[in-house]
Amino acid sequence: MLQTFNSQNENIKIYIGGQLLDRKDAKISVFDSVVQGGDAVWEGLRVYNGRIFCLDKHLQRMADSAHALAFENVPGKQEIKKAIFATLQANGMTDGVHIRLTLTRGEKITSGMDPRLNQQGCCLIVLAEWKAPVYDSQGIKLITCSVRRNNPQFLDSKIHHNNLLNNILAKIEANIAGADDAIMLDSQGFVSETNATNIFMTRRGVLYTPYADSCLPGITRGLILELCNNMRITAVEKNLSLTEFYTADEVFVTGTMGELTPVYEIDGRAIISKSSGIFGIVREAFRRKTEVEGEKIGFGF
Ligand SMILES: Cc1ncc(COP(=O)(O)O)c(C=O)c1O
Repeated sequence: MLQTFNSQNENIKIYIGGQLLDRKDAKISVFDSVVQGGDAVWEGLRVYNGRIFCLDKHLQRMADSAHALAFENVPGKQEIKKAIFATLQANGMTDGVHIRLTLTRGEKITSGMDPRLNQQGCCLIVLAEWKAPVYDSQGIKLITCSVRRNNPQFLDSKIHHNNLLNNILAKIEANIAGADDAIMLDSQGFVSETNATNIFMTRRGVLYTPYADSCLPGITRGLILELCNNMRITAVEKNLSLTEFYTADEVFVTGTMGELTPVYEIDGRAIISKSSGIFGIVREAFRRKTEVEGEKIGFGF
């Protein structure tokens, strides 16, 4: 589903490097590392019911990604929380909001890739927008693309970085094929994830998902595995081939931006729901979690 411009976001305030700016003035220096080399890390978060869902998990993943990339002068978790709260408060946002949190390596003294040219520390961006889950909740269609998902031999997908060309090339193939998203295989030909989400399948009462070797270890993915464990649904991480997905009882994708979305077709093969019912149970358990969990927005920080 192609996202469209939401006029509610026309006059939002955006936090950049310590300042809250109007959307039209929210600009970043051409010397910033994200412009020069996609040299930044990011997180997508959601606000439900006055709470930021899984905030600490997202901030930990961001801190890990920044550490892996050897960023210097990284803002602490409390500082980032304050920036998020201030942005939400400035926009009067408490529900139905997606936050794109970006931390760049910061501004360089001159163009070039060398991190020693970064002498001012990181730059934090908080972009909070009114945004409903982005996929059709009735289901989406996937194709398999020719681009392989990065693995630790090249660029470890455990770093949640802004070098998204790997995924963007995959998305272009999906667009050309008239599909919603693309399945990316790993270097051995097993299913890894889609260009934007983690992927699951069910068969004969068991839930399966690929190992988090080449895919992003998504926070939603982790929650699904946890929920299954609590509900005594067998959940298995393993290498999974396309054939296993074509012949699954149910397939669904997960992520903060789109929550849990069923898949009705992969590469022209219908996913014929033999209704193991696991997807419905897991989606409902996830929805209940979003209603009650998360960190209260600290407007009085
Ligand atoms: C490639 C990719 N896979 C999966 C996900 C889902 O991760 P999460 O559940 O942490 O939002 C994302 C989200 O950013 C992503 O970019």
